Amino acid sequence: MSTEIQAELQTQVERRRNFAIISHPDAGKTTLTEKLLLYGGAIHQAGAVKARRAQRHATSDWMEMEQQRGISITSTVLQFDYKGFQINLLDTPGHQDFSEDTYRTLAAADNAVMLIDAAKGLEPQTRKLFEVCRLRGLPIFTFVNKLDRPGREPLELLDEIEQELGLATYAANWPIGMGDRFKGVFERSTQKIHLFERSAHGQREAVDTIIDFGDPRIEQLLEQDLYYQFKDDLELLEGVGSELDLEEVHEGMMTPVFFGSAMTNFGVEPFLNAFLEYALKPTPHVSNQGEIEPTYPEFSGFIFKLQANMDPKHRDRVAFVRVCSGKFEKDMTVNHARTGKLVRLSRPQKLFAQDREVIETAYPGDVIGLNNPGVFAIGDTIYVGQKLEYEGIPSFSPELFAYLKNPNPSKFKQFQKGVQELREEGAVQIMHSADESKREPILAAVGQLQFEVVQFRMQSEYGVETTLELLPYSVARWVVGGWEALEKAGRLFNTVAVKDSWNRPVLLFRNEWNVGQVEADHPELQLNAIAPVVS
Ligand code: G4P
Repeated sequence: MSTEIQAELQTQVERRRNFAIISHPDAGKTTLTEKLLLYGGAIHQAGAVKARRAQRHATSDWMEMEQQRGISITSTVLQFDYKGFQINLLDTPGHQDFSEDTYRTLAAADNAVMLIDAAKGLEPQTRKLFEVCRLRGLPIFTFVNKLDRPGREPLELLDEIEQELGLATYAANWPIGMGDRFKGVFERSTQKIHLFERSAHGQREAVDTIIDFGDPRIEQLLEQDLYYQFKDDLELLEGVGSELDLEEVHEGMMTPVFFGSAMTNFGVEPFLNAFLEYALKPTPHVSNQGEIEPTYPEFSGFIFKLQANMDPKHRDRVAFVRVCSGKFEKDMTVNHARTGKLVRLSRPQKLFAQDREVIETAYPGDVIGLNNPGVFAIGDTIYVGQKLEYEGIPSFSPELFAYLKNPNPSKFKQFQKGVQELREEGAVQIMHSADESKREPILAAVGQLQFEVVQFRMQSEYGVETTLELLPYSVARWVVGGWEALEKAGRLFNTVAVKDSWNRPVLLFRNEWNVGQVEADHPELQLNAIAPVVS
């Protein structure tokens, strides 16, 4: 390989930062994304992000929008340049479109931004997504949002993160007041105070004035109680708070925390600057040939998500590839590790909001969309040169279960084919009752939308009208040691054993409490919320 290409790879990797936002609905992900895009000069696209917000209100709207547009709108990778960096924001579907894709997207991310509503603190969806980040050891940057509204005590929020997530915190800035009395934040790295001044125009954009910590105006600006409270907090922070340890941040053991208000665009720019300084650049990925560095000269990547188009007139499928090493070039021919076939990658797409644009090149840390003529499955590796295969993507703990039924026996074959293909594509997990007499597949999903998509596609693509029979379970656990371990444990109460697509035993429970019961009664039984990767 020429040193020229090597240098090019080095430069491109150095300037790339990639992240996904993890949050609970309504914490302000759309708003924060929009503001971040403003800094990337992508202001004309900001509306597009907002348009997506409307989509979440009803699932049927979503399908209709898919159909009208003829393209997928649920999957987005936003790419923007800022201060010489190229930033890739991987959009994690949320709300009603919450599905396994939300988790899988994190497999393609190098960093995560955890967005928290100051009034609510940690919420269920954030916790779940955090678990996946932890599994991957992703660095986590926390943005506590909506400081312009009354919220919980900052120290209490930090404590919640530390106690419940086991994540050390480093407050990168500190809020002065909150809600109506929100006066600004103190930035610890620069020892400056950013003053929050509500603008005259409906408080949508705050004015950010920066003054020195020792500025005599502070005492005039802050009411006495706020001033003393702020001094007390700072003393406490300096006294007991941990130092910023970048190594720990990079290992996902410590999170820098930023307070701000996305809606008024207060604190977003300092957050972005700090993120760029502290975040990981594209990281090596584990393969069967060891860790592959992003600067490894040959192109390689893996498929983390497949998106089928809902519009029958444009029934294309897009495979999303995370580029892991080397340089991707349009029309290049690559090896497909699972089948050993050669595949030409024509019409690669870069996805920016809702516009698809054909790309010529891509580098490690980037995501490209490939038209998928049915060759690709979730977790597949594509590569050039020496054969390698990346670690697969695990199956995440489903929470919704239903028998999928085909009331029309003449459609048996189409039904089987549809179920198999949708499973392979990763649209939903398929399980079966351990009782051989029950042949119907059990759909296992993390979000309701997955059921709807399966039924919709069974009908539109395979011509089978299906019905669902919901099952009363909400928790799944894989049994470590397989059927043998399960048999040894003997009779278990308040759970049912089913098998996943690889014939591994999975226990379904009505609730977490029942899981705890079984674990207490059978300490020898090891249960996993996430399925081991099938290699
Ligand atoms: P999401 O994508 O995480 O679901 O959240 P989204 O950005 O849609 O924000 C949810 C609501 O919270 C929106 O209000 C948004 O304006 C508001 N919001 C976001 N950031 C802030 C903030 O920093 N401060 C305050 N006070 N509100 C914030 P909405 O009423 O649903 O929509 P809209 O009428 O404001 O557009």
